[in-house]
Amino acid sequence: MRKIYGFVLFSGLIFASFGSRLSAQSGADGKKIFLDNKCNACHSITALNIAVKKSADEEKSDKEAPDLSGIGLERNADWLTKYLMKKESIKGEKHLKKFKGSEGDLAVLAQLLETLKTKPKK
Ligand code: HEC
Repeated sequence: MRKIYGFVLFSGLIFASFGSRLSAQSGADGKKIFLDNKCNACHSITALNIAVKKSADEEKSDKEAPDLSGIGLERNADWLTKYLMKKESIKGEKHLKKFKGSEGDLAVLAQLLETLKTKPKK
């Protein structure tokens, strides 16, 4: 029974990662993954009403983590996937955190980030 459940869950993830290209609805899953992985300890996504929530176990960083509302204007899911696995860098600098979740979660998360195309208000 557990095996079946695992398979259903796995298929769901695969579907979600492809499905997010088609429907905006699965954005909710990506949002959950973002929060579950505590990306919001440093980043806000104002376009999705996600604010920075400082936690006690937060790693100190002297760099300002950018709001990700418009990340999709500059980066695609492929680049984001690599960056979050520390295989890509910005101006020679890798991301502070390596993604700790599953590959499926990373795919869904990268897809969500790619869809964020709100121009920053200045
Ligand atoms: C400990 C703080 C911290 C956490 C946690 C964190 N980040 Fe970051 N992130 C940063 C900082 C600082 C930068 C800017 C790095 C730079 O410009 O070199 C950054 C940069 C980024 C960028 C690139 C932004 C750009 O301008 O291109 C993306 C995308 C990103 N983070 C996504 C995430 C995601 C998704 C998570 C959760 C899995 C996450 N971050 C968790 C601190 C953090």
